[in-house]
Amino acid sequence: MPAASTPTPNHPINQSTMNNQPSKPYKRHTVTAALPYANGPIHVGHLAGVYVPADIYVRYLRLKGEDVIYICGSDEHGVPITIKARQEGVSPQQIVDKYHHLIKKSFKEFGISFDVYSRTSAPVHHETAASIFKTMFEKGAFIEKDSEQYYDEENKQFLADRYITGTCPHCGYEKAYGDQCENCGTSLSPDELINPRSMLSGNKPVLKKTRHWYLPLNDHEPMLRQWILESHKNDWKPNVYGQCKSWIDQGLQPRAVTRDLDWGVKLPLEGTEGKVLYVWFDAPIGYISATREWGEAHGKDWEKYWKDPESKLVHFIGKDNIVFHCIIFPVMLHAEGSYILPENVPANEFLNLEGDKISTSRNWAVWLHEYLQDFPGKQDVLRYVLCAAAPETKDNDFTWKDFQARNNNELLAIFGNFVNRTLVLTHKYFDGRVPKAGQLTDADREALESLKLFPDIIGKNIEQYRFREALAQMMNLARLGNRYLTEAEPWKIYKENPGRVQTVLNICLKLCAGMALLSEPFLPNTAKKLQQMLNLKARAWNEAGQTELLAPGHQINEAELLFEKIEDAQIKAQVNKLLEIRKNNNQEQVTESVKAPVNFDEFSKMDIRVATILEAEKVAKTKKLMKIRVDSGLDQRTVVSGIAEHFEPEALIGKKVLLLANLEPRKIKGIESHGMLLMAGNKDGALAFVIPEEGFENGSVIS
Ligand code: MF3
Ligand code: ZN
Repeated sequence: MPAASTPTPNHPINQSTMNNQPSKPYKRHTVTAALPYANGPIHVGHLAGVYVPADIYVRYLRLKGEDVIYICGSDEHGVPITIKARQEGVSPQQIVDKYHHLIKKSFKEFGISFDVYSRTSAPVHHETAASIFKTMFEKGAFIEKDSEQYYDEENKQFLADRYITGTCPHCGYEKAYGDQCENCGTSLSPDELINPRSMLSGNKPVLKKTRHWYLPLNDHEPMLRQWILESHKNDWKPNVYGQCKSWIDQGLQPRAVTRDLDWGVKLPLEGTEGKVLYVWFDAPIGYISATREWGEAHGKDWEKYWKDPESKLVHFIGKDNIVFHCIIFPVMLHAEGSYILPENVPANEFLNLEGDKISTSRNWAVWLHEYLQDFPGKQDVLRYVLCAAAPETKDNDFTWKDFQARNNNELLAIFGNFVNRTLVLTHKYFDGRVPKAGQLTDADREALESLKLFPDIIGKNIEQYRFREALAQMMNLARLGNRYLTEAEPWKIYKENPGRVQTVLNICLKLCAGMALLSEPFLPNTAKKLQQMLNLKARAWNEAGQTELLAPGHQINEAELLFEKIEDAQIKAQVNKLLEIRKNNNQEQVTESVKAPVNFDEFSKMDIRVATILEAEKVAKTKKLMKIRVDSGLDQRTVVSGIAEHFEPEALIGKKVLLLANLEPRKIKGIESHGMLLMAGNKDGALAFVIPEEGFENGSVIS
């Protein structure tokens, strides 16, 4: 890191990129972190995107003495949870119980400092969500609409999109879901599926009329335009603002907020048995019910945190949650009428793992509970790495190599090294008592002046959700200390000039004290350890820059190592674990995608021969069909092939191809087709001819 990046008075950091909005004074802060689905454990992607940045933010606010509540809980409704329960032969409640406890425990052990971690299956949530729905209903916030939806007559229930499978109209994959084809990635609606089947009974579902309640987002467009597109043009992150703008500009539609399902918050209306709130309607209300649970448990007025305009509401989420937190939930709150809207929604992009998208279903993840087992006591290392590599403005990659390098070359070599040298020298020369500073040199004054600037620089970055930069600045304080100590070389001058060494270590200790406070949001365990080593009582954030910290004569404690080297073997073990998973995934893909087996006799029934294309023309009034005349070595014949979108007829003439010659003749668009040309098709839908090597005459047999 070049010296110029240290914010000394002579080299102030470039503040021009900082967005210094005059901020409204707020009385309290309501900070939410996206409620994780209780159908899988927490992984590094969740942490980097949501929980680590939010935790840094609230820890900072607490050190500033702000009134802040940090809210989270498990998101326990929704169709995927019911599907997982079916697959495992247990109840949805059993699934969410298992993961809720696992998630809650791992967050706690990792040091995410929620004030409350609740869950949406809690009675307080059902009550809160139902009552918000009811209030909105009574205010006329919904429209009611009847529509036809797929219904399983045997199981007597309506089918969620995920409960319907069939053939994808785009790629022919036979196990596509009613909402998406996982083979070609296209999003679908259930009525597009060819040959739809209920996953419950395997039967063909029937269409049946059902009534649902819709939130007319379009009615709230003026409010959203004013609130987001005008008021938050400059303080919301460009990725968040951009997504909102594009949603609004594309035209908002009424959205169904109820479902026919037996898992969720029951509709609080007469005669609506079998209907629940849509999971994305109830889940964000989970923030409110969790606050209520916290307030009731601690004798606090929870409502202020949600209804007083002097409360600052901030939602930490991943980018896939933007529309729900910026458009749908605010519309709900607005329509209900008594709630405040979020002041900011600092959504992050995604974290990948070793170059691939993290996936719970493919087990492609670094799981928090496993990390805590494999690296006991190293919570801060992961926090550091995930903050340093946070996907703030674009997707980012977590690699074990980077993890090791950041620990060894940054935490250990910079932060740990400076603290350790300072404390060891203080014990060696001054029996662990803070020495008194004598006359200051320019370098001394510069170091102390810089120290004063850090609380503000780091704090401003945190307030603007620039956690990577905030962390980098915190490390710059350690870098500054390291450089200062190295240049002063107290170990060389102690003999002839112990007084100078007193001054140098006095200053180094002050820098360490600053680090002990300013590192707390990022590295809470390290900060605590360092504060104990310095025998420093907990202080407020702004005091970190004060040069009176650690008065001369103050006794410090023994130096302990703050970080340990992470060895290659540990990293290799983690990488091998991932390689193993990758191998398993690839094997599964092969067995899953291969068609049912055929025996040799069946295969040899096929008469495949080399042929040459003689003529080709598009079939009129069709997009895909091409009429092709080939010389098969036995005869000349016509084949109709669905390749017209991929090739120009002229380009085909003279091409050698493989022909399935004994395919039953078939009339296609009135043209008799005698065979089929063999093509290779890739995942992207591109087609290529399968061509024999040079020198094989027409009629050569493939076997
Ligand atoms: N469970 C959702 C997810 O993991 C997030 C829900 S956030 C809430 O994507 F606001 F709805 F609670
Ligand atoms: Zn498909």
